[in-house]
Amino acid sequence: MAVKLKLKNDDDCYGWPIISLHWLMAVAVFGLYFLGLYIIDMSYYDPNYKTLPHWHRSLGMIMLFALGLRLLCRCVDRAPRALPGHGHATRLLTKTAHALLYLLMLTALLSGYVMSSADGHAVAVFNWFSVPALPIEMHHQADRAGMLHYWSSTALIALSCLHALAALKHHFIDKDSTLTRILGIKRETP
Ligand code: HEM
Repeated sequence: MAVKLKLKNDDDCYGWPIISLHWLMAVAVFGLYFLGLYIIDMSYYDPNYKTLPHWHRSLGMIMLFALGLRLLCRCVDRAPRALPGHGHATRLLTKTAHALLYLLMLTALLSGYVMSSADGHAVAVFNWFSVPALPIEMHHQADRAGMLHYWSSTALIALSCLHALAALKHHFIDKDSTLTRILGIKRETP
C-alpha cells in the first residue's frame, strides 16, 4: 500500500481534486442535513434563531459552487475503470448510484437556493458576498422548493448511507481497492 496523490484520475486511484471534493462534500452533506433538521425544530426564542439558518444557507451555496467544480472535474477527467472483480450487475449498480448521488446533490442544493431567494432577495454567503436571486416567479415558490429540498436531502442521506456501506463491504469483505482508490492509497487488488 502506498499513498498516491495525483492531479488526474487513473485506474489505481482518483486524482486529489476529486478525492478532496468527495470527502469535504461528504462531511458537509451530513453536517448540513442534521443542521437543517435542528433548524426546523428551533424556537423563535433560540439565541441562534438567525445565525444557524444563515450558516446553513451560506454553506449550502458554497457546496453548490463545489458541486459545479466537481462536475467540471468529472467532465474533463474520466473516472477510474471498474475493477476486474466487479461483475456486470455491480458495475451497473455503481454507475446508477453515483449518477443518482450527483442528481440528488444538485436537486437538494438548487432547491435550497430557490427557496432562500423566493422573496426576490440575494442570498448572503457568510457576509462575504451575495448570490443574486434567480429570475423566476412561481406560485408558492418557497413552499414547493422547501418540500423538494427536504425530500431530496433525505433521499440523499439515505443513498449516501447505502453507498458508504457498499464501500465498507468492498473493503472488508471483498478486500478490493474500491475504498482505497478514493482515499488516494494504491493497493493491490486480488
Ligand atoms: C454524503 C456523502 C457522500 C456522497 C454524496 C458521496 C458521493 C460519491 C460520488 C458521487 C462518487 C462518484 C465519484 C465519481 O466517479 O465521480 C463517490 C465515490 C466513492 N465514494 Fe462516496 N459519497 C459520500 C460518502 C462516502 C463515504 C462515507 C464513503 C466510505 C465510507 C464513500 C466511499 C466512496 C468510494 C469508495 C467511492 C469510489 C467508488 C468507485 O470507485 O467505484 N463515500 N461518492
